[in-house]
Amino acid sequence: TKRVAILISGGGSNMVSLVEDMTGDHPARPVLVLSNKPDAGGLAKAQARGIPTAVVDHRPFGSDRAAFEVALNRVLDQVRPDIICLAGFMRVLTEGFVQRWDGKMLNIHPSLLPKYKGLHTHARAIEAGDAEAGCSVHEVTAELDGGKVLGQARVPVLPDDTPETLAARVLVQEHDLYPKILRRVAEGDRSRLDLT
Ligand code: GAR
Repeated sequence: TKRVAILISGGGSNMVSLVEDMTGDHPARPVLVLSNKPDAGGLAKAQARGIPTAVVDHRPFGSDRAAFEVALNRVLDQVRPDIICLAGFMRVLTEGFVQRWDGKMLNIHPSLLPKYKGLHTHARAIEAGDAEAGCSVHEVTAELDGGKVLGQARVPVLPDDTPETLAARVLVQEHDLYPKILRRVAEGDRSRLDLT
């Protein structure tokens, strides 16, 4: 059974979708939900589901990303994850941290990569007049949102969409896509999955 740590910064709805899939004959189990924000709503959702939680607040470290990551690694090394899922984790990770967990870290990003790496993906898709938007699950490499894409799901962009309405439509697909990819990765299958 693969041991999965999930890193969050916010509401944790993707974390919940992953945790709720990891039951029964699933090849993985959640061993930790870790937040860099002490007030992340996802922490209570994890606790309610019996998942151990931890907080490593990034703020005391200021701009010292390496020191923040040493603290992250201290917590992660205690639970020895086989897979780390970033799920709305909003801190950029250094090359050193990414290499420490090389091949073990996944992320979900709310765009059809390689389009719209970084922030404000939905506003940028609307601004560009795109007919479609979506989400991607990818392997984490040192290049921000640049690792191998393992799967995508697409939604239409509607004429009256705001970034908020589009985000909500994409989020529904995130909750479908990410558990499917995690299950496949835990089984050793990293072939690409495209949902329509
Ligand atoms: C999700 O839409 C996720 O794709 C996005 O943040 C949201 C987190 O929601 N992630 C990023 O923008 C990563 N740069 P959640 O906390 O409810 O899962």
